[in-house]
Amino acid sequence: MRYILGVMFYGASATSQARGDKVRLRNITGCREAIAESPYVVREALLSGYAGAWKEIFGNENPLHIEIGMGKGKFIHTMAKEHPNVNYVGIEKYSSVLLRAVQKLEQEEVPNLKLVRTDAEGIEGVFGIGEVDKIYLNFSDPWPKDRHAKRRLPSREFLNRYRRILKPEGSLEFKTDNRELFDFALEELEPAGWEAQALTYDLHRDEQMMEGNVMTEYEEKFSAMGNPICKYVIRPIGR
Ligand SMILES: C[S@@+](CC[C@H](N)C(=O)[O-])C[C@H]1O[C@@H](n2cnc3c(N)ncnc32)[C@H](O)[C@@H]1O
Repeated sequence: MRYILGVMFYGASATSQARGDKVRLRNITGCREAIAESPYVVREALLSGYAGAWKEIFGNENPLHIEIGMGKGKFIHTMAKEHPNVNYVGIEKYSSVLLRAVQKLEQEEVPNLKLVRTDAEGIEGVFGIGEVDKIYLNFSDPWPKDRHAKRRLPSREFLNRYRRILKPEGSLEFKTDNRELFDFALEELEPAGWEAQALTYDLHRDEQMMEGNVMTEYEEKFSAMGNPICKYVIRPIGR
């Protein structure tokens, strides 16, 4: 099978704030076919039947951790290899990006990882109520314009969706180098009924929060440029 890969680029300024809505993706020949044929990708048409049934899909009772907006999948692929007793699902909106994660899996099989191409707006159709143990958001697109705030993955609108699919004792971890997005995410917690369990504005200098940290593609890139990485761990209040 042969894929012709396009290039993903982020506008001339390359600042992390501007990158969200400047993504341009060129066409990738054979992309949809490659994704459809992969045993690691759950086909979108079948997703509604999977909500509440991920234990059966993986064939075990292990906890379920998901990454929303996984990009090329470095983080979730590494996590799945390091934690074989956890089931992982990586979610990505664009086929052209998902394809990169699929290719990585074809080189190195990881039985406890599945990939889904879908928009996180429909996340409640992918997982059942209280089915997920942990949600990861890594370097989510900032959507800097106010009118696009609802599209930000740590917004209150998304937190409400996440609350429904999370187990009562579940939590959400968010990392970003974008201080404006992080401040916005913190402001969203109270109105959405969530609370922070842990918080840092400089993850790589925080020994405790760095324990077990797996770098994402963006984390590698932006920390190498000297940007401090912000992180919180949150959970819904009253659980
Ligand atoms: C800036 S990249 C970060 C990729 C990776 N998490 C990392 O840290 O290296 C954000 C990714 O989230 C995906 N994304 C943005 N909005 C999404 C949504 N509503 N549903 C699913 N994926 C989304 C984008 O397509 C992109 O691949």
